[in-house]
Amino acid sequence: MREALLAGKDICKEFQGNTGGMVLDHVTLDIYEGDLTVIMGPSGAGKSTLLYALSGMDGITGGEIWYKGRKISGLREKQMSDLRAHEFGFVFQQTHLVSNLTLYENIAVAGYLGAGWKAKEVEQRADELLFQMGVEKAKDRLPAEVSGGEAQRAAVARAVINRPGILFADEPTGALNRQNTQEALNLLTGLNETGQSILMVTHDVRAAIRGNRILYLEDGKILDALDFPAYRDEVAKDRELRLNEWLCALSW
Ligand SMILES: Nc1ncnc2c1ncn2[C@@H]1O[C@H](COP(=O)(O)OP(=O)(O)O)[C@@H](O)[C@H]1O
Ligand SMILES: [Mg+2]
Repeated sequence: MREALLAGKDICKEFQGNTGGMVLDHVTLDIYEGDLTVIMGPSGAGKSTLLYALSGMDGITGGEIWYKGRKISGLREKQMSDLRAHEFGFVFQQTHLVSNLTLYENIAVAGYLGAGWKAKEVEQRADELLFQMGVEKAKDRLPAEVSGGEAQRAAVARAVINRPGILFADEPTGALNRQNTQEALNLLTGLNETGQSILMVTHDVRAAIRGNRILYLEDGKILDALDFPAYRDEVAKDRELRLNEWLCALSW
């Protein structure tokens, strides 16, 4: 048995004043180091809520969350925000880049705020990442002056500059066209190949096939899990078929 990197034990979540009942209903899951774990499920299933709960961005009403063998649910906000800054990276549907900073500055600032490295190290790593993400030519432009795909790639660079133990991605391709979606997915897959653990929420089958483990969430409950070997482009078509069959059986 591998020990989980991140584990949710019996997580429950209700929103005050929400009459819809439990948004997370006794969710238990293990996320393993080096995996690209995907959470799928219909709109309103609780996917984003689960991601925010696991990453400590939002509280839970029951259960526990463990990260690297340490219970992190119940930490004080200061400890939680330190943990997030050092250990967690985030990518969302919208890039949330700071509009009056260049792509380079957006990435470097995250590095200065994060792991407490020397300025030289941060700047070197920001440059490396800009190159790795293929946006080095746009580094001195503002977010509004680059394409949506370039902005999202810069957002991925910003998310990993502190070498997070886990990268959380909530619908990272939700605002991208087909071409940019494939590029962003190639980046995420490439990061995962170099050992980056990723937890990605998506309802896009083309994104989900990149995962080696897919969990299906509905009405706040995990209904099933599907395991795949590591992704390669050659298996994309087959995997899409398998995934669609599985989703059909779950009345997706
Ligand atoms: N801040 C909130 N207050 C009240 N209800 C919320 C809040 N956030 C989400 N919900 C409810 O929780 C359910 C799950 O939402 P969400 O996690 O965003 O779903 P998904 O990401 O799977 O589409 C929805 O019914 C939504 O209305
Ligand atoms: Mg969502």
